Amino acid sequence: MEIICSPGVMAAWADKVRREGRTICLVPTMGFFHAGHLALMRRAGEVADEVVVSLFVNPMQFGVGEDLARYPRAFERDTELAGATGVAVLFAPTPEDVYPEGFRTTVSVSGLTETLCGLSRPGHFDGVTTVVAKLFHMVKPHLAVFGAKDFQQLAVIRKMVADLNWDVNIIGHPIVREKDGLAMSSRNTYLSAAEREKALCLSRSLQLARERVAAGEKDAARLRGEIRQYITSNGDVDVDYVAIVDAETLASCDEISDGSLLALAVKIGRTRLIDNTLLAGA
Ligand code: PAJ
Repeated sequence: MEIICSPGVMAAWADKVRREGRTICLVPTMGFFHAGHLALMRRAGEVADEVVVSLFVNPMQFGVGEDLARYPRAFERDTELAGATGVAVLFAPTPEDVYPEGFRTTVSVSGLTETLCGLSRPGHFDGVTTVVAKLFHMVKPHLAVFGAKDFQQLAVIRKMVADLNWDVNIIGHPIVREKDGLAMSSRNTYLSAAEREKALCLSRSLQLARERVAAGEKDAARLRGEIRQYITSNGDVDVDYVAIVDAETLASCDEISDGSLLALAVKIGRTRLIDNTLLAGA
C-alpha cells in the first residue's frame, strides 16, 4: 500500500490510473479504524479496481468545544489495517495542505443540514461537504462509499453530488455493530465501562421500535415518546433528539411508512453517540 500525503501527488496518481482505464473508489475517513471502516474498504474493493482511503481529521467539521484536540489517532495501526484490507493508497494530507493560508470557500447544502445533528452541531455539515468536495477533486474517484451510521451525512453528500452534477457514484453501506448491538464508532473509545453498558440503550431502543412497528404501530409521535422514555429510563443520559424522518428527504414523518427512519443522538457522559434504523420496508 502506498501512503501519499501531498494532494498534487495524489491527483497525479489518480490521473494515471484513469488514463489506464481503471476505476477508483474512495473511502473518506478520519482514521482510528474499526470494523465499520474496514467493511467500507472491502465494499470499495468489490466495486472498483483501486481503493483509496483518505485519513484526515477535518478541523472544519468540529465545532467550538467539540473533541477535535482529543479525537483518537493511531496512524501506524491504521496503516497496517488498511494495507491488510487491500487498499491501494492511504491518502493522509495535512491540515495545511487541505486548508492553506487564505482558504475562503465553503460548500454548503441547505435544508438537509438544518435539522437533526445540524441543530446541535451548527456548521458541522458545511465542514463535511467542503472537505468531501475537496477530497473528490484530489482523488478523482469514480465511486465513494459512506456508512449509513451517519445517515444524515450520507443524505447530504448524495444531495451535493446530485445538485452539482458530480460524476461520482455514492454507495451507502449498512451500519456495522459490535456483537451486543452497539454501533461501531471511533468515539466509543471515550466510553468508560459503565458508559459503554449504558450506550446499549441506543441499539436496544431501535430494536424495540422495530418490534412496535412490526406489531402495527404507525403513529410517529407515540413511538418517539416511547423511545425517548425507554432511553431516559437508563438514568444519566441526555437525549439530543429522537426523530422519525423520511430517509431521503429527512422531513419529519407523522405516520410511519416504508422509508421511515428512526434516528437518535444521545449523550452518554461527555460522549455524543448516534444510531438509526429503517422502521419499515428495507
Ligand atoms: P468517520 O467518522 O471516520 O467515518 C468514516 C466513514 O465510516 C463514514 O462514511 C461513516 O459513516 C462510516 N462509518 C463509521 N462507523 C460506521 C459503522 N459502525 N458502520 C458503517 N459505517 C460506519 O464520517 C466521517 O469520518 C467524516 O465526516 C468524513 C466523511 C471522513 C469527512 O471528514
